[in-house]
Amino acid sequence: MKPPHRLYIETVGCQMNMLDSEMVVASLRQRGYELAGSPEQADTILFNTCSVREQAENKTYSALGRLKQEKRLHPEKIVGVMGCMAQKDQRLIFQKAPFVDLVVGPGQLQQIPDLIEKARTEGGQHTALSLGRRDGAVKDIKRSHETFDPLRDPTMRPTPFQAFLRIQIGCDKFCTYCIVPMTRGPEQGRPPSQVVGEAKILAEQGCKEITLLGQTVNSYQYRDGQQTTRLADLLAQLHEIDGIERIKFVTNYPKDMTYDLLQAVRDLSKVSPYLHVPLQSGSDQVLKRMKRGYTVDDYRQMMARIDETLGEQAAISSDFIVGFCGETEEEFQASVELVKECRFKNSFIFKYSERPGTRASDNLPDDIPFEVKKRRNNELLAVQNQISEEDNQAFLGRQVEVLVEGPSKKADPAAESNGGPIQLTGRTHCDRIVVFDGNERLVGQTIPIGIYDVTAHTLLGAVVTHESSGGLVSLA
Ligand code: 5AD
Ligand code: SF4
Repeated sequence: MKPPHRLYIETVGCQMNMLDSEMVVASLRQRGYELAGSPEQADTILFNTCSVREQAENKTYSALGRLKQEKRLHPEKIVGVMGCMAQKDQRLIFQKAPFVDLVVGPGQLQQIPDLIEKARTEGGQHTALSLGRRDGAVKDIKRSHETFDPLRDPTMRPTPFQAFLRIQIGCDKFCTYCIVPMTRGPEQGRPPSQVVGEAKILAEQGCKEITLLGQTVNSYQYRDGQQTTRLADLLAQLHEIDGIERIKFVTNYPKDMTYDLLQAVRDLSKVSPYLHVPLQSGSDQVLKRMKRGYTVDDYRQMMARIDETLGEQAAISSDFIVGFCGETEEEFQASVELVKECRFKNSFIFKYSERPGTRASDNLPDDIPFEVKKRRNNELLAVQNQISEEDNQAFLGRQVEVLVEGPSKKADPAAESNGGPIQLTGRTHCDRIVVFDGNERLVGQTIPIGIYDVTAHTLLGAVVTHESSGGLVSLA
């Protein structure tokens, strides 16, 4: 019998990419592939790539550079570049790294097993790409970006009891800085029956937490004749599935955070009141240049709707871009003020990175020096961190329900191997990270943890036993 093919796969970028890699691995395992720990041990090497910032692309091109020698020594190895950078750079990848065999966009991943086979038997360089946004009828463009989601491989997930579930493909918002509408195509909601079917399979496999994915997940809608299904309806359907204990959804678009959705979050106990709603900038002028489609005041009104419907239990996080084209010091300070006003649970802060092919790249100069972007990034992060830490202080002495994910990064491997308690990590219903000591048996369970210390990003606690629970107040 022939030995199995061995696959090495490296993934950068967002949760969509993690899900895509899981599916590609599942489809190759079906053909008898096994996973390898390094490119040297593999006969098939895949890079799942990201184009959102230049840095992510540089990372992939450097990794490809390091592979040149390996491919020279072993020309029979198949090297593939998949994901957003494949869709964006297309055949340019063959120019920059001539030894690459495959370039496959995120809408064409189902072709990977056959293309690998083809490259192995026939040689040559192969591409499988979706249509550009102006390259045909909308129906055909959409079809060319559709993904093949049902195939799963639990071993590729962050943990076997947590899974991503795509409910929406692509994006139609066309924010001027963003490449995603080009790489992942037009926005399309996946049919609710497919989503619910996949969630049921995941639950049968022992999955307790699902995170619904979409670029603007709360804009989700699916039309079938007279009937339109929105995210609130989909959440209600998913809530019925036995075995699923927690449901999250990312990433949200501020204007589509409607009352009916917030009421669903309030009324469906499995749905996490954690809302990631990127603001991007606290300045109306910058938001306009970004073509975000809302003002700071619209965002404030959304915050008021959240507060009114969910109250204290809601945890809101955001994304910001600093140093966007023409951002003045005053405009940047407006972002600082909004972070202080909104008191986000946490914020992801990015230095603006010009992306060829976007409207900002075509029309607005990338004129803020790198040093200024860096300083603004650090300043905004410091303000956010102080708020995160202050808000975490409110958890001191309280009890939270934690879904235990596994050993923390600092877990002592010696203690792990002799079965002693190790440092474990998990998350609250509101996505707060909790670290505590416990037996590895707890992994996959939802347990009460009493909090005795906090940092900006972590709650530190201890497992609550019957005897120790007196005096602790429960909080999600
Ligand atoms: N430069 C910097 N950050 C960006 N993001 C998207 N495009 C860019 C860009 N060109 C950020 C946004 C988005 C997050 C996923 O990445 O904040 O919400
Ligand atoms: Fe990009 Fe804007 Fe769409 Fe988000 S909403 S994916 S930032 S275009």
